[in-house]
Amino acid sequence: MHGINLDMLGRRDPRHYGSLTLPALQEQVAGYAAGLDLEVSFFHSNSEKDYCEHLHGLDDRADAVLLNPGAWTHYAWAIHDALEIAALPAVEVHLSDVGSREPWRRVSVISDLVLATVSGQGVEGYRNGLARLRASLSA
Ligand code: DQA
Repeated sequence: MHGINLDMLGRRDPRHYGSLTLPALQEQVAGYAAGLDLEVSFFHSNSEKDYCEHLHGLDDRADAVLLNPGAWTHYAWAIHDALEIAALPAVEVHLSDVGSREPWRRVSVISDLVLATVSGQGVEGYRNGLARLRASLSA
């Protein structure tokens, strides 16, 4: 689940986010998922309301969730609560190394709800996040 401004990949600072567009990133992630024997579907929104509502219905449609909420990660407590309602195994992923950027990016409002946080590994981080979820589903 891609959050706010992730649809702008390709136009954002490549030093932090690489040069892949969101469709290209999704193609790569779909390949990672297939390699891990996972079926994947994607969701993006710049609307916090729609993002929360997608989480509300997710337990009927998915066994786990890999999410990059973008800047919402750092302050959007409504997304924390919606993820708690979804009650699914979750991994948080960030393309950039949020721990070594501005101090406000070090806060994650969802960190207490996720199995792992993968950050600073670019698109590869999505593979590692999916592998973590695969392991939790197989356990
Ligand atoms: C991001 C990091 C956030 O701090 C930022 O606001 C984003 C993307 C990342 O993938 O590195 O939009 O989640």
